[in-house]
Formats: sequence, structure tokens, C-alpha cells
Amino acid sequence: MDAKTGANIKIAKLTLGDKSWSFPIYDGTVGPSVMDVSKLYAETGIFTYDPGFTSTGSCESKITYIDGDAGVLLYRGYPIEDLAEHGDFLETCYLLLYGELPTAAQKENFDDRVTHHTMGHEQMMRFFQGFRRDAHPMAVMTGCVGALSAFYHDSTDITDPTQRMVASIRMIAKSPTLAAMAYKYSIGQPFVYPKNDLDYASNFLRMCFAVPCEEYKPNPVLARAMDRIFTLHADHEQNASTSTVRLAGSTGANPFACIAAGIACLWGPAHGGANEAALKMLGEIGSVDRIPEYVKRAKDPNDSFRLMGFGHRVYKHYDPRAKIMQKTCHEVLNELGVNDPLLDVALELERIALHDDYFIEKRLYPNVDFYSGITLRAMGFPTAMFTVLFAVARTVGWIAQWKEMIEDPHQKLGRPRQLYTGSPRREYQPISRRK
Ligand code: CMC
Repeated sequence: MDAKTGANIKIAKLTLGDKSWSFPIYDGTVGPSVMDVSKLYAETGIFTYDPGFTSTGSCESKITYIDGDAGVLLYRGYPIEDLAEHGDFLETCYLLLYGELPTAAQKENFDDRVTHHTMGHEQMMRFFQGFRRDAHPMAVMTGCVGALSAFYHDSTDITDPTQRMVASIRMIAKSPTLAAMAYKYSIGQPFVYPKNDLDYASNFLRMCFAVPCEEYKPNPVLARAMDRIFTLHADHEQNASTSTVRLAGSTGANPFACIAAGIACLWGPAHGGANEAALKMLGEIGSVDRIPEYVKRAKDPNDSFRLMGFGHRVYKHYDPRAKIMQKTCHEVLNELGVNDPLLDVALELERIALHDDYFIEKRLYPNVDFYSGITLRAMGFPTAMFTVLFAVARTVGWIAQWKEMIEDPHQKLGRPRQLYTGSPRREYQPISRRK
């Protein structure tokens, strides 16, 4: 049943003392149903309490579906495995934005539109000079994506569907350019302009790794791997950064500002920063014989250490993206002839953890970030860039979710409430009378 039609209504009853209330239950297409508690406070005078929103559905969405118990991820109904294997990232972008896979003509037109928006405003180049060279590229990315709203006034009217789509295309097109610029700036190399005869991933690799003194030839295996990494990270329903984008968007803020808010949220090590943290951890472990020591620490309730790249709020089964990532990791390392000892550490750590009672009981499996760090490092990216690459990929997901929210007639300003446990009202004391 559509959550908004009210047909076939199932009811949940809440009883408090001698009073009871009814709340409608809505079924989605697949997955858990939801109880509509939007009138709970008005009718009962109490709020729900759900720190971390583990039991809260914040919106109705048709974009991405995750079955965390079965390890399933669908974009608009299509399994991630099929999209990563058979399609390309821009096809996934089209799918997320428009709801359907493109025809050949639609795909050609979409690729062309994205490609012709990849160049940044020339003045943005100078904007970069304000940053320190050693700034974290996520700091640069957050600032520069937010700054896009100062450069593209003609696509900030959120009530105009054409402007919304132009802003969406601009952000998908310009985020790799800005990411590459952040990287080039950090290593003191000149910015490389986008090249329109290259596909999205090859163009990005060229903007990151080409130098003016040499001809750059994109490696198709690396470009395919990059494209797949983008596809795997394109959307993940109402995670922390997407919810941040929706919350920012619910105020009517312009889309560039909303995506900048999402990037800031993605930065944290429990979210997008985990791939950087996972690689650092593998480096710290260093060799296979030290794994038991770290597994012991991860299991110790008195030690705050966690196995980075393990566990997920939603997946209580193998993260389907991690399987594809592991395969991609092998392909990249083989292509480059890299023999990375950290891959041996990762494979052994995964093997041990998958057979350890602690991890089995708590249903902790490798997540997408476990293998992405090793892959990206082999491709030549420094660890500080990992979360930036995640942000480039997730831009389309944030944008699709933001558009869906703006176009939802039931959309409201997001404004959670709280359980207040501070002091009740008390009398103000002048400073001379305070003890
Ligand atoms: N290593 C060891 N123990 C863990 C781990 C881990 N990586 N993750 C969870 N646990 C334990 C945790 O100590 C807790 O134990 P207990 O019940 O005894 O207190 C139990 O498992 C449940 O943990 P939680 O923190 O309540 O679960 P959560 O759903 O809030 O946490 C998570 C999800 C991703 C924050 C967490 O698993 C974690 O910190 N993982 C490492 C960071 C990481 O890899 N994050 C990337 C997520 S995937 C990318 C993305 O979508 O952004």
C-alpha cells in the first residue's frame, strides 16, 4: 500500500492507563512496515525516544532499498551487483535521478550533459589559493561545494524543476573536478582541466594523475575499477549524511549548501571516514601474526578499539558492496602488479573474524570500506583522499534524495524533539550571591 493513500489500513494500538489510541501502519513495497506516529504528540502529549534513529523511518522513498539481514542493496529495484557488473556510473546516476534505466539515446544525452558541466568556474581556481596546502581535502571539498552556491545563482531556486535538475547535473559533473583540484593543490601540482572525450571515471583519473609535461593514457582496468567504486557508493538510503542533506534541504536551503552539509557529515570515521581508518588500522597491524592481538582488543569491552571496516548499522550480513570491492581490489592489484602485504593482512583478518564467535554473534561482517582503502592506495590515492572519493560518488545519491524530498508534497521542516533531563526552571542569582 502507498503510505499516503490510506488504503488497507492496519492499526497499532497504544494504551496508557485507561486511555488508548490508534496509529496507522503502512506497508512498503518490500521491507518492514512503519507505524505513523506523526500525530502521537498531538494526541498523547508524549514523544518517541529513539537515539540514533535505529527504529525511525524519517521519510517515504522510492530510491534505494537495503535488506541488511539478507545483504541486499537495490537502487530503484536493481541489485547493486548487476549495476556494478553490467552498467556504468553515469547510468546509475540517471537511474537514481529519474527512476528508470536510460535508453541508449537518453544515456548519450545524459552523458553529454554531465560531461559539458565538468569544468569549474575559473574564479574557483583562485578560491583554492586561500587554503593551506596541508588542509585535509575533505575540508577543501566541504568549503568548495558550499561555495558553488556563490557561483551558480541561476540554479539555486529550489521551486523551479529545471533549476533543480541543472543544479543536480552541475554537482554530479563538478564534484570530481573539485576533488581532483583539492588533490592537485595538496601536492603542489597544476590543476588539470577536464577532457570531454573521456568517460567520467577516466576523466577523473586524468584530472588527478596527469601532469602537463607528459601524455596521460587512462588505464581501462583502473578506470573500470574507479567507475565501479563510484557505483557502489552512489546511494545508501537514509544514512547519516543523506539524512543530513534531507534535514538541511527541509529548511529550503539551496542544493549546493545541502550537499556541503552532507559532505561534512560524511567526514566522520564512523561513516565515510572508515575507509581511511580501515587502511590505517591494517597498516598498524602490519603483519598477519599480529592479527590475534588486534582481534582480542576489538573484543575487549574495556578497550575502545574497533575493527575498522567491520560492522554496519544496517547490514547484519556480508555487505554486498564488500564482495564486489574485494574482487575489484584483486583486479587492480593484478593489473598494477602490486603485491601489497596489507591485502594479506585484510584477507586473514576477514577469515579470522568470520569464524570468531564474537563477530558471528554480533553479526559483524566486512563492510564496503574494508577493501576500498587497499584498492585506492594501489591506484595512487593518498589516504586523505579516500573520503573525498566517497563524497564524489555519493553526490548523486544525496541529490536524488534531496530532489525526492523537495518534490514530495508531504515534505515538512525536519525538527526532532528530545527527552529533557536538565534542570527544571530555577531562579536567576546575581553573581554576588552565587556560591
Ligand atoms: N569492531 C568490534 N566490535 C564492534 C564493531 C567493530 N567494528 N562494530 C560494532 N561492534 C560491537 C560493539 O562494540 C557493540 O558491542 P556491545 O553490544 O557488546 O556493546 C556491538 O557490536 C554493536 O555495536 P554498535 O556500535 O551498537 O552498532 P552500530 O550499529 O551503532 O554501529 C558502526 C555501526 C558502523 C558504527 C560500527 O559497526 C563501527 O564502528 N564500525 C567500524 C567503523 C566502520 O567500519 N564504519 C563504516 C560503516 S560502512 C560505510 C558507511 O556506510 O558509511
